[in-house]
Amino acid sequence: MTILVTGGAGYIGSHTCVELLNAGYDVIVVDNYYNSVPEVLNRVEKITGKSLKRYECDIRDRQGLEKIFGENDVDAVIHFAGLKAVGESSQLPLLYYENNISGSVTLFEVMEKYNCKKIVFSSSATVYGNNPIPYKETMTTGDVSNPYGRTKHFIEQILGDVYKADNEWSISLLRYFNPIGAHESGLIGEDPNGIPNNLMPYIARVAIGRLPQLTVFGGDYDTKDGTCIRDYIHVVDLAKAHLCAVAKILEGTGIDAYNIGNGVGYSVLDIVHAFEKASGKKLNYVIGDRRAGDLPAFYADATKANKELGWKAELGIDKMCEDTWNFQTKNPEGIK
Ligand code: NAD
Ligand code: UD1
Repeated sequence: MTILVTGGAGYIGSHTCVELLNAGYDVIVVDNYYNSVPEVLNRVEKITGKSLKRYECDIRDRQGLEKIFGENDVDAVIHFAGLKAVGESSQLPLLYYENNISGSVTLFEVMEKYNCKKIVFSSSATVYGNNPIPYKETMTTGDVSNPYGRTKHFIEQILGDVYKADNEWSISLLRYFNPIGAHESGLIGEDPNGIPNNLMPYIARVAIGRLPQLTVFGGDYDTKDGTCIRDYIHVVDLAKAHLCAVAKILEGTGIDAYNIGNGVGYSVLDIVHAFEKASGKKLNYVIGDRRAGDLPAFYADATKANKELGWKAELGIDKMCEDTWNFQTKNPEGIK
């Protein structure tokens, strides 16, 4: 079975390639390396002892995609490629709509042309917006406050329409909660360009001395310690969810959304303290103002993924912090 992975050199994509190769799939990566480097794929090969096929190609490049689908028999696609910085998406909305939505539509058109109608799409818990917690797949989605989140919502809707028009498609929408952690080899992990927007890479860079101090965004929320609550999930657990979703879409047709989270909420300070324990370092932090757009608390009801995909998160926050720290210490300047 051959799986084409768009954005396979990125953070979640690379961990998923490891699991796919370990499970015996043939893997083709399509990435334009906008937010990653080819060396990541060498490391995936090193971890697994297996090789993958790679194409440097933008998903907006129709001819490039047609060449790839023409040269290979692709059984299913896992679609990670996209831009993901929430703040940047508000400053550059057209870039986000063009890259994420136009790119996805081009990909789906080429898939249809080559009669490949099976796809797993990287969606996000952000599509739930201001719903009661825990979030469930039956809730209304789309009340989203930024262009990044809207691209996820729109692509889910587009895939819904694609299925309505042609129910030979088999589609899995995975709504990720907050992925953190790294492969336990320390060879791959999260390595953002510039100053990180997200909590875990920021903490890791403070601990290693590349950034002076963490600002905790808000200490006055109505939560157990005043800081925001999120559902953190180990990236290896998340990667394994893709294997379960691929098995499901290869089996039949249909469209389904699944929450991919632990189902447990941890505060920012829980993560800070777990990281201090894992690294043996005191973390320099201050409590600052709230960040615009942040919700006080959300976490998943992940029972649907458990029942229908046979997937369940297994790794806790201590392991997430240990593996992040291992990756950070082995790659203090990131992956070049
Ligand atoms: P990432 O930036 O590490 O990986 C994305 C990859 O896609 C990168 O390698 C990038 O170079 C590539 N890419 C971007 N635009 C492309 C294009 N037009 N053509 C070809 N390649 C392109 O991000 P990630 O954290 O691995 O996220 C993967 C997917 O999961 C994204 O769609 C993201 O929105 C979604 N997601 C991520 C999170 C998270 O917290 N990391 C949460 C929810 C959803
Ligand atoms: C953010 C996005 C979400 C996206 C997800 C993964 C927003 C509003 N939401 O989720 O759409 O799917 O990233 O890319 O941006 N924090 C600090 N200090 C920091 C960084 C973060 O205190 O320097 C806090 C935040 O307030 C939040 C928690 O840590 O409570 C997690 O933040 P982050 O990692 O950015 O993820 P989300 O905001 O949950």
